[in-house]
This record gives sequence, C-alpha cells and structure tokens, in this order.
Amino acid sequence: MSTPERALLVGTLLLAALPAFAAESPQLGTPITPAEMAAWDLSIQPDGRGLPAGSGTAAAGKAIFVEKCQACHNEEGKGQPFDRLVGGQGTLASAAPVKTIGSFWPYASTVFDYIRRAMPLVAPQSLTNDEVYSLTAYLLSLNGIIKERDVMNAKTLAKVKMPNQGGFIIKYPEK
Ligand code: HEC
Repeated sequence: MSTPERALLVGTLLLAALPAFAAESPQLGTPITPAEMAAWDLSIQPDGRGLPAGSGTAAAGKAIFVEKCQACHNEEGKGQPFDRLVGGQGTLASAAPVKTIGSFWPYASTVFDYIRRAMPLVAPQSLTNDEVYSLTAYLLSLNGIIKERDVMNAKTLAKVKMPNQGGFIIKYPEK
C-alpha cells in the first residue's frame, strides 16, 4: 500500500471509530446548573456592572471587621501582620509610597469584588453580599473616600470615585 493510501485508510478507520468513542466516553462530570454557574460568575466591572443586590453601612462593617478581619489587618485596617488597608493618599509619587486600597486602587467596585472573592483569607466567599457592602463602606469611610453614614449598594458604590483613578494609564487604548 502506498503512503497516501495508508493515510487514507487510517483516516477512514478513525472516522468510523468516532461514534464508538463518543458512546464509550468515561461519563465524567454532570452538566453545570445556572445556580452553580452564578457562584463562579463573580466578576464586577470597574463601572459597577455585576454588583449584586444588597447594601451596607460603615457602622455594620466595623463590627464585622473587628470579628473577621482585624486579626490580620489590625485595628481600623492600619496593617500588620498583613496588608495595610487605610491611608497613604498623596504618597504614591514620593520616595516611600504607601499603597493601600484607599491610595492606590482605581475603582471602588474592585474593593467589593476582592473582599467577596478572597477575604477573609481563611474562609473566602463566606460573607453575605450585605456584609461585603458593609465592609467596603467601612474601609472606604476609614480612607475618607465616603462619609461615615453613606449607604453602599450597587448604585452608590458604582458612583464612588477613588483618589488614584486618574493614576492609571491605558498603554494600548485602541484595544
Ligand atoms: C488570616 C489573615 C487574614 C484575614 C482574617 C483577612 N485578611 Fe485580608 N488579606 C490577608 C492577606 C495575606 C492579604 C494579601 C493577599 C495577597 O496580596 O495576595 C490580604 C489582602 C486584603 C485586601 C487587599 C489589600 C491590598 O492592598 O492589596 C483587602 C481589601 C482585604 N484583605 C480585606 C479583608 C477583609 C475585609 C477581611 C475580613 C472580612 C480580611 N481581609 C480578612 C490576610 C487576611
């Protein structure tokens, strides 16, 4: 048999075997449900698209922070043993920049996204949306970005302007 003929034969045999492969698939996994998909579909856009229903205040956030965050981020988020969450505004261009969510992060909605997705470090995604709104309100208020009594929800949080929003440059604006 010539080489092209042999290739054709192998190809034909493979095609003939395909339905059998499908029938003999290992049958692993189950189709994902919309509810399961929603649990993974967590991303919030800089303009606030994707923020869930719910709301919270700094006062409620303070109580949750003391219980679930302070051990790692210290009182009022001043840092140690882990990241400092408050202050640093106006230091970014200095010789000793202090990068916090308040001084560095360009979008308030990212604070919500990050806390909901990743914190507390030992139990990520254990907080309710109201708790995350409250913690976000508390941290933004400690940073002087919102007032202590401002209620955070999908609408109000999307409107919060972070001090360093203009400090990020899009290198390839056409993309
Ligand atoms: C067990 C320790 C621990 C606990 C508890 C904890 N965190 Fe964190 N947190 C960390 C660590 C470590 C990082 C840095 C993670 C990294 O850079 O990948 C971090 C990062 C963060 C950041 C981002 C800081 C930055 O500038 O990048 C935020 C916001 C935050 N935590 C909020 C919270 C909130 C709110 C809670 C309470 C619900 C919480 N954390 C509880 C350890 C903790």
